Amino acid sequence: GVYSFEDSPYLMEILTELRSKETENVRFRKDLVKLGRYMGYEFTKTMDFKKVKIETPLESTEGIASGDRDHVYIITVLRVAIPLMEGLIKTLEHSRVGIVSASRGKAPDFDIEMSYIKVPHMREEDTVIVCDPMIATGSTLLKTVSEIKKCGNPKRVVIIGILAAPEGISALKEALPDVEIYVTKIDRELNDKGYILPGLGDAGDRAFG
Ligand code: PRP
Repeated sequence: GVYSFEDSPYLMEILTELRSKETENVRFRKDLVKLGRYMGYEFTKTMDFKKVKIETPLESTEGIASGDRDHVYIITVLRVAIPLMEGLIKTLEHSRVGIVSASRGKAPDFDIEMSYIKVPHMREEDTVIVCDPMIATGSTLLKTVSEIKKCGNPKRVVIIGILAAPEGISALKEALPDVEIYVTKIDRELNDKGYILPGLGDAGDRAFG
């Protein structure tokens, strides 16, 4: 399934600031971290937790303890996913982290070159979160998810991003029907240079200069 957080005014407020060309890079990076933190929190609502019995100072009661939240593996797709990942691990603090470097060639083919992939110790109980803020044509994530599947057979593979173009979502849904996608918002369209519209520009450049 594909899930967006358009009904969350606070997340939309952060997204609006990211979109604005007035937002300079320090603020831009902080906003990416903030979105990661709160998207991580929203994501925990989809995870399995354990029921536990505990004693308060007064009596016994039931509560909830971390279950799948202990077994998260975040894959960071360089480079602009770095601040998003930093936010995600504020709510998913036990996460292990893998790194993938993928860069997209120019139009019309947008061929993906994957020059580095480091995803050690993936386990069957893991929830793997592939973190890439921008899903444009979807080709970076298609390549990344297919490479990751060679590194293990985890319980869940999900994609967490900020903005997606409908074209990228369709391509991912068709090629990876079992992968769940969580984005802050699905935007209108892709232009012929492969930028999401209205979008937020080149996220890597805006974050890192
Ligand atoms: C951007 C973005 C995604 C990719 C999305 O990365 O961060 O990884 O393009 O495009 P796609 O869905 O069409 O594949 P870019 O190659 O600009 O690298 P950067 O993050 O290092 O700037």
